[in-house]
Order: sequence, then C-alpha cells, then structure tokens
Amino acid sequence: MKSLIEKISSAKLNQEFKRLYHGRGEEEFRFLTIDSIDKILFVQFYEDSPYEKEILEKLKEFTLHSGHENIIVKRRFTKETFAIKGEIPKKAFAIENRMKFKLNFYNQNIGYFGDMREGRKYVERISENKNILNLFAYTCGFSLFAKRGGAKEIANVDMNKSALATGMANHQINDLSQKGISFWPYNILKAFPKLKKKAPYDIIIIDPPTFQKGSFEAAKDYQKLIKNLSSVSHEKTTLIACVNSPFFEKERLIEIVERNSRFKFKERIENPSEYTNSSLKNLVFI
Ligand SMILES: C[S@@+](CC[C@H](N)C(=O)[O-])C[C@H]1O[C@@H](n2cnc3c(N)ncnc32)[C@H](O)[C@@H]1O
Repeated sequence: MKSLIEKISSAKLNQEFKRLYHGRGEEEFRFLTIDSIDKILFVQFYEDSPYEKEILEKLKEFTLHSGHENIIVKRRFTKETFAIKGEIPKKAFAIENRMKFKLNFYNQNIGYFGDMREGRKYVERISENKNILNLFAYTCGFSLFAKRGGAKEIANVDMNKSALATGMANHQINDLSQKGISFWPYNILKAFPKLKKKAPYDIIIIDPPTFQKGSFEAAKDYQKLIKNLSSVSHEKTTLIACVNSPFFEKERLIEIVERNSRFKFKERIENPSEYTNSSLKNLVFI
C-alpha cells in the first residue's frame, strides 16, 4: 500500500489526463487502475478485492493535498459507478495534448483510451492534406488529431452511433471544423463496399476490439478485414493496425497483414511509458 501511494504521489500533475497506476504492470494490485483527469481522480477495480476499502481510504488522504476535488470509483465487475468524494460531474473532459475528449463516467468505457496517445500523435504528424479512413473510430480520437494535423478528408466508421455522436461533439468542443469529416455508423464487416465512397485513402487506421461478441473477433475477423484493403487503398497508403491482447502477439498481426495484403511492416509506435506491460501493439505498415 505504501508503494502505491508513493508511486502516485511522484507523478507530475496538470490538467492533462494521466494514468497514475496501471495494475497490469504492477506487482501489488493487478486489478486496479487510477487516472488523474484534471480535478478528478478516477479509480477502477477490475475484480473484487479485500483491499478495496483500504485503497479508497488511502486515496482520500492522497487527495487532501493532490488538488483532486472528486474521486469517482468504477467497479467494472459489478458495473457500479459512484463518487466517494465530491460528485460525478455532469460535464467532464479528458485532455490529451491540449485536445478535449467528452466523458461519460456511467458508460463501461468512458469515452477515452489513454494508451493510444502516441498513436494519435503519430497520426497528427503525418496527416497534412491526407484522406483518412478511421475504422472502429469510437469517439473519434484519431480524427481529432488528424484534423489538427491538417487532414483534408476523414471518414470515421463505428457501429456504435452514440460513440460517433460523442465523436462529433468532440470536434465541436475543440473548435475543429467538420468540413470533409464523415461519421458512418456501419458494421464494418458487413458494409465494407460502402467504405469505397471516399476511397482510395492515404491513411487507414484499424483499432478494433479484441473480442466483442457478435461484432468483431480479432482471431478470425482481422484477416477478413485485411483482405479487403486493396479495394480502398493505393500503392502509397499507410496502414496503422492495432491489437490489444496479451494472447495476440505483434508477430501474428504482422503475418496476417503481410500475407493478406501488399502492406509491409515499417515500425511499432511505442506505448506511453505509464502503461507498463500494456498489451497494446500499434503497428505501422507501408
Ligand atoms: C477499442 S474501441 C476503438 C478505440 C478508438 N479507435 C479510439 O481511438 O479511441 C473499439 C470500437 O469498435 C467498435 N466496433 C466493434 N465491432 C465493430 C464492427 N463490426 N463494425 C463497426 N464498429 C465496431 C465498437 O463500437 C468500439 O467503438
């Protein structure tokens, strides 16, 4: 417990989202994550633990001098969300490199995945004048950074309409014009031909779930997706393909892409250092 508090106390905090504790990379509490979201301390328990009460008491003490006005707790295994200090604010944002993401703490996933920060930075760097296809767009984080990087056209595709609506709002709250940006609520596996509408794309981003029952199963569906890429790309298209599972190795994703398309592996985008032992692999192909 002492090392948990020491660890989170050593982080330099400001308004930006910061993962303070990433359970998977830690010896002590593998079921726990703690994020600093401006004035909110966001604590997630992934499984039941006899230490929960003690951890929360210690975190309350920590916030007496850390500046956090609210502590929000999500027990993912019981689907409960509640505040133990302050309240759950009606409006809250995660800020990443000055970009705002609208949050909803009651959703299982709150609207922002911090482990993709370096991927979004990479996309911002290469987007100028580009036509981009953002598959599994969720709340359109890649689109925000692509637009800031000067993208000409962006098509965001996700079957979750409410996530796309948040994505649209995210462009507005960041004063990004929606000119040239599309939001397509398609099931990507069933509506691939519709993606040709704005093809060929200069950059294609694929950031799917590992396993979402009935929607996408990386083990069998990734290959299908890659086989379709030739119909929406050209010979200079850059592909960014991700997978986030400890059971899906980087080499396996490279093999699936290289065997089923003309794309060749170029480099891996490293994960943010706070996400120790994260199983996210974010790979670039040209
Ligand atoms: C890991 S999230 C994507 C994160 C996002 N790229 C980001 O940067 O924050 C996965 C998304 O895939 C979407 N999804 C899953 N299966 C899908 C399918 N077959 N067609 C379209 N969207 C799908 C889900 O609705 C969810 O929003």
